[in-house]
Amino acid sequence: MVFSHRVAALKPSAIREILKAPSDPETITLAAGNPSPDAFPAAEMAALAAEIFSTNPSGALQYGISEGYTPLRERTRKRVFEKYGAGRDADDLIITSGGQQVVELTAKTLINEGDTVICETPSFIGSLNALRSYGANLVGVPCNGAGMDADGLERALRDHPEAKLIYTIPTFQNPTGEVMPLSSRIRLLELAAQYGTVVLEDDPYRELRYGGEAIPPIKALDTDGRVIYAGSFSKIIAPGIRLGYALAQKELIAKMTAAKQVSDVHSNLFFQILVERYMAEYDIDAHIGKCRALYKIRRDTMDAALQKYMPDARWIVPEGGLFLWVKLPGGRDGTEFCRSAKEKKVMAVPGSAFLPDENGASDAIRLNFSLPTPKQIEIGVERLGSNL
Ligand SMILES: Cc1ncc(COP(=O)(O)O)c(C=O)c1O
Repeated sequence: MVFSHRVAALKPSAIREILKAPSDPETITLAAGNPSPDAFPAAEMAALAAEIFSTNPSGALQYGISEGYTPLRERTRKRVFEKYGAGRDADDLIITSGGQQVVELTAKTLINEGDTVICETPSFIGSLNALRSYGANLVGVPCNGAGMDADGLERALRDHPEAKLIYTIPTFQNPTGEVMPLSSRIRLLELAAQYGTVVLEDDPYRELRYGGEAIPPIKALDTDGRVIYAGSFSKIIAPGIRLGYALAQKELIAKMTAAKQVSDVHSNLFFQILVERYMAEYDIDAHIGKCRALYKIRRDTMDAALQKYMPDARWIVPEGGLFLWVKLPGGRDGTEFCRSAKEKKVMAVPGSAFLPDENGASDAIRLNFSLPTPKQIEIGVERLGSNL
């Protein structure tokens, strides 16, 4: 089969082989990005689902509009404004099929083949692949312990003044867990304005904070409509509902809506109604508080297990998010380490999976602490330690 240029680049990699479902049920996976099933508000959702289908089934089963279910759009917009300080009169919000679709629609709307997109290195593979599938030329700026390095960004923009987009995950970056401080957020916006570049701020982990003070999203500092904000319900309600949102200036949102119509007409209407009802009838902030408490214990368990079983590795304890980014001792190659770890019945993601440069190597691995139980975390990290 002769595939299009867009997808020909999306080849199955050696990493995907490592991450294939293990044949051994004893294998512990620290490789996922999944929330814990213990964090799903399943009972509340069951009650709401029954109510929706008994009172207004055709509302949930009929076609909807591409922008999304109006009450959910309005409620989300209000919450984002009140809690994060983001969103101005000149902005609009659409509901999308996960935060992933915001990245895809941004690429579809702004990127021509060969256009430069500046991103963090390492960065989230789902977004990198979405950008790659539209022919973006990815230019990575290293994370320096506090997100995208501002001096590195300035150099990248000087080298690529024509860059169309800066893609960043400033809060609990995936995979590093790093947080970009306010001063760097301001500088990033200044640089973007200087070079006329649009910014895509991907922010699915903002509310999963286990310590420290919240920092405003870049979108809250955006006075000239330069920032597209991608939000998600995946990590605070459930990923299977596939709901997220884009908040950006009206003209951009109108184009993204037209692009979305071509992609999937609209996001799942039943779940849009359900999430709106959930936010209206239950206390979502209390629910997120429970998720935080659950994940904080698991993060601390993983940190303690690493200190015990892998004391020569290096990591920072992230203040939020779902991942620990661990540098292996002695510069050991992450891909080779994860391959042999799988034989020891534990799975992790090699750092090379997150590199904009697909041929790059990494001495890091990404560990997830939200899905495994504390006991599985302890055993899993012990197995990783025995693989050193
Ligand atoms: C940084 C980042 N962006 C976007 C997504 C996509 O999330 P979703 O499409 O489920 O909202 C993820 C999921 O792990 C992520 O880590």
